[in-house]
Amino acid sequence: MSRKIIIDTDPGQDDAVAILLALASPEEIEVLGIVAVAGNVGLAQNAINARKVVELSGRTDIPVYAGCARPMRRTLVTAEHVHGDTGLNGPELPDPQVPLQAQHGVDYIIDTLMNAEPKTVTLCTLGPLTNIAMALIKQPEIADRIQEIVMMGGAYFEVGNITPAAEFNIYVDPEAANVVMRCGAPITIQPLDVTHMIQSTPARLDAIKALGNRSGQAVYDMLTFSEGFDLKKYGWIGAPLHDPTVIAYLLQPELFEGRHCNVEIETASELTVGMTVVDYWHVTDRPRNATYLRSGDADGFYKLLTERLARLP
Ligand code: BDR
Ligand code: CA
Repeated sequence: MSRKIIIDTDPGQDDAVAILLALASPEEIEVLGIVAVAGNVGLAQNAINARKVVELSGRTDIPVYAGCARPMRRTLVTAEHVHGDTGLNGPELPDPQVPLQAQHGVDYIIDTLMNAEPKTVTLCTLGPLTNIAMALIKQPEIADRIQEIVMMGGAYFEVGNITPAAEFNIYVDPEAANVVMRCGAPITIQPLDVTHMIQSTPARLDAIKALGNRSGQAVYDMLTFSEGFDLKKYGWIGAPLHDPTVIAYLLQPELFEGRHCNVEIETASELTVGMTVVDYWHVTDRPRNATYLRSGDADGFYKLLTERLARLP
């Protein structure tokens, strides 16, 4: 039986690749809907980008919603410096024809969880956690009904990418991340500690381009664009690839290793706001609220990704 998921996202080239990986895997994953959130760029553009990606995949049946336009308490911080002015620079994708759903994304998340059998819907979060936190605040009963939250966010051993202490998705809305981390639902985290190992080297990108389909070409164009910033920053041969690790974890969890431990979000300190404080060594008695992944098999990941992208138009 395939696993039902909602993808909450701010696409984002790496978000787009995650969406494509999920839509290319219908035997294992049923994407119920996609909800845009403010993050890499503003909400309206992220909602356009999400619709461009479903059209690219040929899955125009997937409903796309717009959620929250700004973080719970803070001014929105965006990342055009990484993703380009559209958030999805690289390929030339046509303006989307599929409509944006009228319902607010937060209400869609609540309704879906309240109407499904308990513990049958997984939330895959690829951006700031604003929509999920707002859903938990508006309808707290959803917490017990979530099968699992699998998120890309945070960092501990690799620390920050937007500040020295914080990863972007957590930093943009730390109060929301805090609500989510304490909600009681099972949580699995793909942090920078994993995604920095999943590097899109030239050989791996060339293999995706060589698929010869439009999705492979678009992924190549997207990642070639978004790599620029990180290659300069880190000086590695390939840039980290973040959000698709969430979907890869659903498909092949054995590609990743980590442990169940306490994860807290710093919301008060000016210096380290948005930091994910991970009790990886169990030095406290704080409740173990998340499975924190620490490493991943990059060759296995790219084999899976390339093989699945080949199935798309
Ligand atoms: C995260 O930040 C975003 O820019 C990426 O899409 C990813 O979700 C990595 O820190
Ligand atoms: Ca993202």
